[in-house]
Amino acid sequence: MYYSDEIVEEIRAKSDIVGVISGYVSLKKKGSNHWGCCPFHNEKTPSFAVSENKQMYHCFGCGESGNVITFLMKYENYSFPEALRVLADRAGVQLPELEYSEEQKKRASRRQRLLDVNKDAATFFYYQLRKNPHGEVGLAYLRKRELTDETMKKFGLGYAGKNGGELVAYLRKKGYRDEEIRDAGVATFSEKNGLSSQFWNRVMFPIQDANHRVIGFGGRVMGDGEPKYLNSPETDIFDKRRNLYGLNYARTARAGNMILCEGYMDVIAMHQAGFSQAVASLGTAFTPEQAHLIHRYTEQVLLAYDSDGAGVKAALRAIGILRNEGLTAKVINMRPHKDPDEFMKALGREAFQERIDQAENSFFYEIRMLESNYNVKDPEERTKFHREIATRLCNFEEEVERENYLQAIAEKYYIGVDNLRKLVANYAAAGIAKPVERPKSGIQSKTAAQEGAKRAQKLLITWIADYPQIFPKIRPYISPADFTEELYAKVTERMFADLEKGNFQPAEIISTFEDEQSQKEAAELFFEKLPEMETTQEKEQALRDVILAVKRNSYEHFKQKQAERDINAITQVLEAKKALLALEKLRITLDE
Ligand code: CTP
Ligand code: MN
Repeated sequence: MYYSDEIVEEIRAKSDIVGVISGYVSLKKKGSNHWGCCPFHNEKTPSFAVSENKQMYHCFGCGESGNVITFLMKYENYSFPEALRVLADRAGVQLPELEYSEEQKKRASRRQRLLDVNKDAATFFYYQLRKNPHGEVGLAYLRKRELTDETMKKFGLGYAGKNGGELVAYLRKKGYRDEEIRDAGVATFSEKNGLSSQFWNRVMFPIQDANHRVIGFGGRVMGDGEPKYLNSPETDIFDKRRNLYGLNYARTARAGNMILCEGYMDVIAMHQAGFSQAVASLGTAFTPEQAHLIHRYTEQVLLAYDSDGAGVKAALRAIGILRNEGLTAKVINMRPHKDPDEFMKALGREAFQERIDQAENSFFYEIRMLESNYNVKDPEERTKFHREIATRLCNFEEEVERENYLQAIAEKYYIGVDNLRKLVANYAAAGIAKPVERPKSGIQSKTAAQEGAKRAQKLLITWIADYPQIFPKIRPYISPADFTEELYAKVTERMFADLEKGNFQPAEIISTFEDEQSQKEAAELFFEKLPEMETTQEKEQALRDVILAVKRNSYEHFKQKQAERDINAITQVLEAKKALLALEKLRITLDE
């Protein structure tokens, strides 16, 4: 963290979250919260709550939550220091100069240098297109492809001329060392030519990250050369798996979906036609990381892949990845045109909107594509096709969903619904279907027991945040070590210490985490949905169950560690056992 905890906390405390968020979202007070429509997902009835007491927000629809700082980071796309600066100005607090460690300085400055090289290269290409007579070919090319000047400007399009030395000379003059120019991915070194631009005779598409920073380029050859597109190599700032072309605009489009396509020109054509929710993977196949990235902004993806064989294959792959990420997918039919760019030119935006409205459910799409592999007039092949359908239906874990699809597919393909149901049941019983895996990128999938333990820990944290008066009573029996999720332990350590000092602010704890993901996870802990109960007695019973569940899990956890010969676990096991016995007798009341 660049600023001291004290200054961060001072600014946070002086910024009233209700006031700040009211500037973006219309809020109405109801009960202890202010409610509005969530700015982070598409909704018509308010499930976005801002709590004055907790100085936090939480959306019960999409799960986004955080404090006033994370709100600005998320909504305005600010970095942490940027959000802090805005709030400091608003609250009239003077921010001190940034404090960096040596290591941080070095790392930050190298990354910054590489970003600067890319930014300056983008400027260079941009002026080549407009100001250099050689750029006229590029400009003519882009105009022929029906891009407006406004669009070219919005996407910072440029031109790389035939002389690969010019870019290098320009960057050297700006003060960059050869090594920096090379490491930024804009030039390559050869014995014969020395350092020379990676790109020449191409129109240039700067690739920007979600914060509008140029991290690389795609260059399209003029006419029919090979390769058609040339991209920057992976560098310290350009990770192709984790970025999407167009995301810097699409992330705030708030269309209720994102459109995923294959090409730079497709993204640009769609944005120009008003579909600014379009993104493309970067000259590589779509990745789970990119699906995860999309999931931060929407629940639904519309695929606008090329309508040729390769496009269908890529779409089928993407559907699997999107499904694993828990996103719903639909497929836009581009026929008779090849890709969104050509479609838009031929038929225009209204026709495209119609295709969006008619987009096909991804499961139906998969089955339809599957059908083309079989000659369904032949009984034997037809049977094989039905078997394949049954296997895929088994993958729906939820019975209602499975049954709904089963009925729809049976009707569509003239299969007896009872026969199909029997086939599916047989396959499911035999364990033929693979269980659906839902790996969250980077995180292992958890067993049901682990999920339950996690949920109990979250619930307990929310209980204590909502009813701090119970804390002194349960403190002797519960400790941060009982929270077996690492992040939860960190939160409760801070939370318990603050409660003991009589100065507990959930919103403050969020800001002690550096990365956005941890902030989000930490914030969620204070907004777990407590069961809705009428009487105090019922509530007390529910709370009791939660405390016991947390403690029992902790007991099991340390017993496991003890079995793995962890010396420190021995005392923990004894302590947990004792606490469990005491807790079972303890009466927990919610009165002051
Ligand atoms: N691509 C690439 N390298 C190539 C070819 C393609 O990185 N040699 C990537 C580019 O991101 C390109 C996308 O794949 O935008 C789609 O390629 P393709 O369908 O071949 O081209 P179009 O987008 O239709 O390009 P254009 O309309 O300019 O002909
Ligand atoms: Mn194209």
